[in-house]
Amino acid sequence: MFSLLVRRSGMIDPPQMSETDAHCHILPGLDDGASCLETSLAIAHLLTAMGVRRVVATPHVMSDVYPTPSEKIREAAAALQGEFRARGIPLEILPAAEYYAEQAFLERIKKGDVLFWGDERYVLFETPLEQEPRALEEIVFRLRVSGYTPLLAHVERYRFAQKDAKFERLGHLRRLGARFQVNHPSFHLPKTSRRGELARKLYIRGWADVLGTDIHKAKMSDSELAHRGDKRLFARLADRP
Ligand SMILES: [Fe+2]
Repeated sequence: MFSLLVRRSGMIDPPQMSETDAHCHILPGLDDGASCLETSLAIAHLLTAMGVRRVVATPHVMSDVYPTPSEKIREAAAALQGEFRARGIPLEILPAAEYYAEQAFLERIKKGDVLFWGDERYVLFETPLEQEPRALEEIVFRLRVSGYTPLLAHVERYRFAQKDAKFERLGHLRRLGARFQVNHPSFHLPKTSRRGELARKLYIRGWADVLGTDIHKAKMSDSELAHRGDKRLFARLADRP
């Protein structure tokens, strides 16, 4: 598990990134993440420089903008894995998705058409940032009874979670069987950031079950990377909105 260091200021030393990146938009051309193979390879270099060995490829899946079939995601992941192999990039890709919490997602669950990963059979999904959707509990319930572990994406970004000062709502979701994914770059945000504060609190409570980068673009070249340590690199990644 992660080691924990709390400083006098109340800030924690950010934990190391895990060997598995559970949330990444690395597949080319499927969503607002990597637009081409070159960007996917640049993201792969970023990840390996962070010590990531396994990346869960999680393109957005939402009915109106990205209605991507599961098969297309599997094929894209296999193709990118081939590119990594050909170039000697030591990164394993697992095909998955970041599902949007909507009716179409419930229908996918009913049909058994969801991409999951790991022994826990994690299924990553997101909700609108500003308002908790009414179907949230139903989604968690449906995933659980279908044999999956509901994994709520970047919990620290949601307004409803930031306002949940006593962790009652989040605790309820956990009791229903939900688990939380936290974006690693959020740990580097300042104390004034609600997102950063919630990420750290979740981590201290042991509720940051799975870490991800949620990288969409690679901003740095290899030579820039070579001159940066993890800390500065993560600080740059945390710049994204
Ligand atoms: Fe994402």
